[in-house]
Amino acid sequence: EPPISVRTLSEEIGIKANELLRKLMGMGEMATINTTLDEDLASMLAMEFGVELEVVRARTAEDDLLDSLAPQEDEEHLSPRPPVITILGHVDHGKTSLLDRIRKANVVDSESGGITQHIGAYQVEYNGKPITFVDTPGHEAFTAMRARGANVTDIVVLVVAADDGVMPQTIEAIAHAKAAEVPIVVALNKIDLPNVDTPSNVNKIYGELAQQGLNPVEWGGDIEIVKTSTVTGQGVPDLLSTLETIAELHDLKADPDRPARGTCLEASLSEGRGVLATVLVQEGTLKVGDVLVCGDGFGRVRALFNDRGRPIEQAGPSTPVEISGLDVVPTAGENFGVIDDVGRAREIAETRRGRAREAAQAERQTVTLENLYNRM
Ligand code: GTP
Ligand code: MG
Repeated sequence: EPPISVRTLSEEIGIKANELLRKLMGMGEMATINTTLDEDLASMLAMEFGVELEVVRARTAEDDLLDSLAPQEDEEHLSPRPPVITILGHVDHGKTSLLDRIRKANVVDSESGGITQHIGAYQVEYNGKPITFVDTPGHEAFTAMRARGANVTDIVVLVVAADDGVMPQTIEAIAHAKAAEVPIVVALNKIDLPNVDTPSNVNKIYGELAQQGLNPVEWGGDIEIVKTSTVTGQGVPDLLSTLETIAELHDLKADPDRPARGTCLEASLSEGRGVLATVLVQEGTLKVGDVLVCGDGFGRVRALFNDRGRPIEQAGPSTPVEISGLDVVPTAGENFGVIDDVGRAREIAETRRGRAREAAQAERQTVTLENLYNRM
């Protein structure tokens, strides 16, 4: 947002600078005629005098990037793509175990304390077609990762342990899925435990779900609930076929023949390997050698690794992939996009960094009740 000085604003809206300054003081802002106001404050101030500000910005390289990131809508260029399915739920309800069972892998045992602390993204074959799964942590500390998972997904699998029922992060997960406007399928997990697969217990949990707005199909609602056990494998084939049916209904498509765009799920600095970012390609095809902007980082893709850590040459729509070659660790949750030229990529990354610095500075300078108390 371009800042505007009190003087310029006064000239633009034809209100005397003194009046603006007096109003600002009334709003608790000490200002002079040369003070610059950000867009929100300037708009609010103008509103006080009955003037609606229209903010026109010069086009930047970033605008071009955002344009090139806009979804392809021309049917002709679209091909079917794998569904992206995110697993959400309360801590320890069995999300990673369920995914292990689906993948015939074993991640749970390698996790420290049995608690997932990362987003994991994997691709599996089902009936000869790939499905992408995103595993998220259930611990209350990882809200942002759950939100990120919900934002990139086509369908949410909500794992609810049948011995525990709807818990705080179950409710939080439902909120993320609703905010992202994606369908939810419930896996009523740990159904192998003694005394949980009883009508009274199952009805109790259905009631808890219904209270959160998830009305079970069995009760005349539209939420599919599949009883699962990652110990016996019960319900896992059912869950997969339910997911397949919902995915088919949504007719998921993307254009594979365009510069890639997608979302950064996770990023870190690795000793020896430099900046590593796990991204989900949402459209286009990402290739080794592509120049990309990812959050406020940029660079040329040096290598791509699939979900099993094997080097690959390219990654199409709905593929999770680890990339190396970025100059700084991007913020997870940010978008990425491939652009044809390094100079422009650098320019966009630098604009974004500048903005992040300004935001951080503004935060430091803002007096809040909390840091006022902390200073006392
Ligand atoms: P966070 O990622 O930390 O939120 O946990 P999670 O939801 O991924 O749970 P995880 O898969 O790590 O499983 C937690 C515990 O529940 C482990 O000890 C599993 O062995 C156990 N568990 C998972 N699924 C089942 C199940 O279907 N039946 C039984 N009896 N135990 C299960
Ligand atoms: Mg887990």
